[in-house]
Amino acid sequence: MPSSTARNDSIYAPRPCRLVSVTELTRQEKLFRLQLTDGSELQQQPGQFVQLSIPGLTEAPISVASSPSRHGYFELGVRKAGTLTSALHQLQAGAQLGIRGPFGRPFQLAELYGKQLLLIAGGCGLAPLRSLIQYCQDNPDKFSAVHILYGARSPADLLFRDELPGWQISDSFTCRVTVDQNPANSCYDGDTGLIPELLAEIPIDADNGCAVVVGPPPMYRPVIAELRKMGLSGAQQIMLSLERQMRCGVGKCGHCSIEHLTCCCDGPIFWLEEVEQLRGAL
Ligand SMILES: Cc1cc2nc3c(=O)[nH]c(=O)nc-3n(C[C@H](O)[C@H](O)[C@H](O)COP(=O)(O)OP(=O)(O)OC[C@H]3O[C@@H](n4cnc5c(N)ncnc54)[C@H](O)[C@@H]3O)c2cc1C
Ligand code: FES
Repeated sequence: MPSSTARNDSIYAPRPCRLVSVTELTRQEKLFRLQLTDGSELQQQPGQFVQLSIPGLTEAPISVASSPSRHGYFELGVRKAGTLTSALHQLQAGAQLGIRGPFGRPFQLAELYGKQLLLIAGGCGLAPLRSLIQYCQDNPDKFSAVHILYGARSPADLLFRDELPGWQISDSFTCRVTVDQNPANSCYDGDTGLIPELLAEIPIDADNGCAVVVGPPPMYRPVIAELRKMGLSGAQQIMLSLERQMRCGVGKCGHCSIEHLTCCCDGPIFWLEEVEQLRGAL
């Protein structure tokens, strides 16, 4: 159970927060910067999510896209999908929102310290992974190397386009971007191809490497197969994030069950070996 759950008076009562700014990322995704109204920090860990609500409407689980090492605010990268997210996309700075959480099992940072990290994001998966990327940027001495590989459908679908060049810091902190298709009239000059096709080109020491994968479900099996070919086949060498439809967010309703696990409490971040054999997990 996350420490934040014990800290809140009620895990079911949303805490008021204020929308500080809205940035358009793509035609479908926006970045929302928020502050808790009482001035406190969210105190999330990278990989955790909040249950975001608009008063009088509904709520939805959204991963925190910013690192706790960036103080005074937290950010959510949100795709317009349905009721809550469409209403959210209409809001402007100053709007009042509610959040429950942070909830869920974060990226296992202690297990990542000292390792060579291979951070792999597909599509919207870059939003949750950005919290870990920022954390690595702010704590570079804790990791032996950080290699980011991000794939999107097309150049127009790339999230955090302005930030991507800044994630290429040195030979041991690299960022590579690829798109499935690059239209003829685009000025994009990065790689074209699927993530598994580029993985083998990332320099990673199999003995001291750990991959973190966040993306759409069809991405997982081909990426995992390729990572294993690269030698990342031991225990605790592949960490991934799973999404399920959620209600309570705190392990009570069973809505997000994956066999004996709940995605909201036992996840959303799992080691591959914890879920690989569970029916429907991947
Ligand atoms: C742990 C977690 C973290 C998430 N983080 C993010 C994030 O950072 N950014 C983001 O944009 N979205 C994120 N999502 C997905 C987001 O919660 C759904 O898109 C949510 O349904 C949006 O609410 P809505 O009211 O707008 O859509 P709704 O009106 O509830 O539904 C819209 C459509 O989305 C489907 N749907 C609902 N939940 C999910 C889900 N979890 N996975 C796939 N389809 C779903 C519904 O069946 C429906 O077809 C996350 C989900 C989980 C479980
Ligand atoms: S959402 Fe209720 S148990 Fe996970």
